[in-house]
Amino acid sequence: MNIKNLTGNWNYPTAIRFGCGRISEIADACHELGMSSPLLITDQGIAALPMVADTVELCVSAGMNCAVFSDIQANPVGKNVDDGVTAYKAGNHDGVIAFGGGSALDVAKAVALMVGQDRPLWDFEDVDDWCTRVNVDGMAPVVAVPTTSGTGSEVGRASVITDESNHTKKIIFHASMLPAKVICDPELTVGLPKNITAWVGMDALSHSMEAYFSPFYHPMGEGIALKGMQLVKDFLPDAVNDGTDLVARSQMMIASTMGATAFQKGLGAMHSLSHPCGAVLNTQHGLTNAVVMPYVLERNREAISDKAIDLARFLNLPNPSLDSLLKWVLELREQVEIPHTLAEIGVADSHIEELSKMAAVDPTVGGNPIPLDVEDMAKLYDNAISGNIR
Ligand SMILES: [Fe+2]
Repeated sequence: MNIKNLTGNWNYPTAIRFGCGRISEIADACHELGMSSPLLITDQGIAALPMVADTVELCVSAGMNCAVFSDIQANPVGKNVDDGVTAYKAGNHDGVIAFGGGSALDVAKAVALMVGQDRPLWDFEDVDDWCTRVNVDGMAPVVAVPTTSGTGSEVGRASVITDESNHTKKIIFHASMLPAKVICDPELTVGLPKNITAWVGMDALSHSMEAYFSPFYHPMGEGIALKGMQLVKDFLPDAVNDGTDLVARSQMMIASTMGATAFQKGLGAMHSLSHPCGAVLNTQHGLTNAVVMPYVLERNREAISDKAIDLARFLNLPNPSLDSLLKWVLELREQVEIPHTLAEIGVADSHIEELSKMAAVDPTVGGNPIPLDVEDMAKLYDNAISGNIR
């Protein structure tokens, strides 16, 4: 495969410039949205990296003012959004460059929403018709630039932000939170360490897999999910083994974008179990999904066995079935060094009661192929802590 061919301009689900080196078009993308003074929002981990300074320089040399806001933590909280809004207003900015991994992109999208609202952030949680409360005219335009391949937040219409008052992850949603322009430049992911590459890549897999198995009717989402999973199968191990492999980096970047496009169809219990761990224990999101993945597949067996055959066939697994899918997931996890139990990432039996109550009401639980209550969640945590898949 020639890296020179892995480039394109797409308008689905939003305007995407895809290909190595395309960050050079950042100023054009900002100009197209009428920005002359963007606020680049990123996280502390990458704020000091040359790619941030280079991106600011590209904007400045195109005649724009461009400042950086980076006061964002992993598993971002409401205060990070509030602080970003303050920085945006103090600097008289007229748009947002959302630059980084999932946390940065989610905060940036929420800041772009909140600069034009009178209500508090939590009034825009994805509940009933609360999104109708949004003053769309007040929202700032966003150019999204992912620097990891997993979250897919660059094509998402929501942000996951933790409400620090009760340690719950809330989904802030409005259709217009979908960034108007995206630059997917796989070269920006080359410096990502092995472990993060694996963890976020498994997040992308969990998005496509949960979307595929979710019971809602969305054949487009299902088709995208299949291809997204195939790309992860074919390219995640290469991206983890050699971070400079630009073909693997490119294919994982689009797999990530596809996962998030697909999960408009729904997510499920992998995310329902993972969100409380992230909110309470600050575990890494993709890593947590990857740990719980086989336990959830097994728990859903009754509802997903038939669809698993089609998926296993598409992935070219021997003896296509849920069992061959499970076998592949376990092998892939081992290959990219994902631990087998939640205990290995700090979740203990003493956490089960609190976490299972949260998981049972997580917004993603409705997309699971079978309904799961608090007791089911407690059993799943118990299995995933002790390592018993069956
Ligand atoms: Fe996720």
